[in-house]
This record gives sequence, structure tokens and C-alpha cells, in this order.
Amino acid sequence: MKETSVLCLLFLISLLSCTTNQARLTVSPSSSQFFEGDFVSLSCEEDDSSAGWTLRRNTSKRQRTQCGDGWGKPAGSFCKIRYMYPWDDGVYWCESREGPISNMVNLTVTGGSVILQSPVLPVMEGDDVTLLCKTKTTPSNLPAAFYKDGSLIRKQPTGHMTIQHVSRSDEGLYKCDISGHGESPSSWITVTDKHTTTPPPTSTSPPVLSVLSFFGSVCVGVLLALLVMLVRRCVHRKPDGEIQIIHIQCSV
Ligand SMILES: *[C@@H]1O[C@H](CO)[C@@H](O)[C@H](O)[C@H]1NC(C)=O
Ligand SMILES: *[C@@H]1O[C@H](CO)[C@@H](O)[C@H](O)[C@H]1NC(C)=O
Repeated sequence: MKETSVLCLLFLISLLSCTTNQARLTVSPSSSQFFEGDFVSLSCEEDDSSAGWTLRRNTSKRQRTQCGDGWGKPAGSFCKIRYMYPWDDGVYWCESREGPISNMVNLTVTGGSVILQSPVLPVMEGDDVTLLCKTKTTPSNLPAAFYKDGSLIRKQPTGHMTIQHVSRSDEGLYKCDISGHGESPSSWITVTDKHTTTPPPTSTSPPVLSVLSFFGSVCVGVLLALLVMLVRRCVHRKPDGEIQIIHIQCSV
């Protein structure tokens, strides 16, 4: 009887931790900068579709607007923006009804003629990262200069630059310049710890959120095990009052 109560309690706790699933916002093509007129597709990849994730954004003009509300076209779990305008510039994230949010991404749209294609999601320590400096009008890659935090770091004849085995010190604000065409906007490159499997949520309490997402993935297994134990206890009992007690305690 006491054991059953403990099992019920564990079951409820696991059930609660199961509701803290997370979504991941992905951007295709994978770039944080776009030319005016580019097409982009955003997606909330979710652990649990019942959570009802919506894509939202803040721009300089309007805050917390969701896809379809004056911008973008929802299509299943995607949000498609057919023609990016400079005022689509902003921070984008996925949000569930219950409140948790995904990673955020900054998208920059330029009316200019040069962009820096840099990773839109945080890169993992030790990975190689390739930056591409592109013009709107020239199909082939031109020589480009790359800057980090305002200082020239490299000049590359082919317009792309690879940073091998990125470390924390590579984190910063990058831009590029193609002579005769102009300068790209700046974008942040964020480097995460090798041991983090999900991108760290940029909210106020990353450790808490990663703990919660850990429970989210473990709890399905725990739930199943507890359920099996509960059912076995019920089945092994003679049909007296005990089953009803179990029922009442679990349906709180
Ligand atoms: C978006 O704007 C709202 C309202 O100004 C603000 O509270 C929120 O922190 C902003 N979110 C992001 C991700 O910048
Ligand atoms: C987005 O841009 C703002 C301002 O440039 C910066 O402070 C912030 O860290 C960026 N966020 C991400 C997720 O890159």
C-alpha cells in the first residue's frame, strides 16, 4: 500500500517533468544574413507536437508578432518568408503555449550588395566554421577581407574563410568587405561548450533549462517503467478496495 503511493507519486512527478520539452528553431538556407528579396524557411523542430509551438519575432517596429500576423506564411511546422525586406531584420524564436522558448536567432536583411554567410546556430567548440562573403550581383566568389570585432583578421582570395577548431576566443562580431562592392552587416558567432548537446537557450537561466530538457528525454523511459510496475501491482492484487485507492491517488 505504501509502496504503491510512492510509485504513484513518482509517476506524477515524471509526468510533470515530461511536459518540459523543448523546440529548436532552424533556418534554411542556413545563414544569419540575407539580401533583400531572398527566400527563407524557418522551422520549429519540436520534441512534442502537442505543445503547440509558434514562431515569433521582434523587429524594430513590432514585438512578439507570430508567423502569419503581417509577415511570413505558416506551412505545417514551417514558416516561409518569400521575399525578405530590410524590416524583417530581427530576433526570431519559437514559443509554446506553456511559455518555454527555443533558441533565438538574429536574422539580418540588407538592402546592400554584400552579405556574410555565417552559422545561424551556435557552433560547437572544436568544429570547423566556414564564413562566406557574397555579393548580390556577382555569381563567382571575389576576394574578401574578414573582420572580427572591428579588426581585420584575414584577406582571402576566394571570399571564404575557414576557422579550424573553433574555441571560445573565436566568439565575436564578424563582418566582411569586398572591395568595390561594399561591406556586409555584422553578425555574432556564438561558440558553445563541447559537452552541450542542445544549443544553450539564450534566456536568463540556461543551466535550469538544460536540466529540464535532460529530464524531458529521460522521463519517457522512467514513465514506462513506473507504469509497468503500477500495472503489475494492480494485477497481482485480489480485486478488493486497493485498486480503487490506487485509482484515486493517481488521478489527482
Ligand atoms: C521582444 O520584445 C518584448 C517586448 O518589447 C520583450 O519583452 C522581449 O524580451 C523581446 N524578446 C527578445 C527575444 O528580444
Ligand atoms: C542578437 O543581436 C544582439 C544585438 O546585436 C546581440 O546582443 C545578441 O547576442 C544576438 N543574439 C544572438 C542569439 O545571436
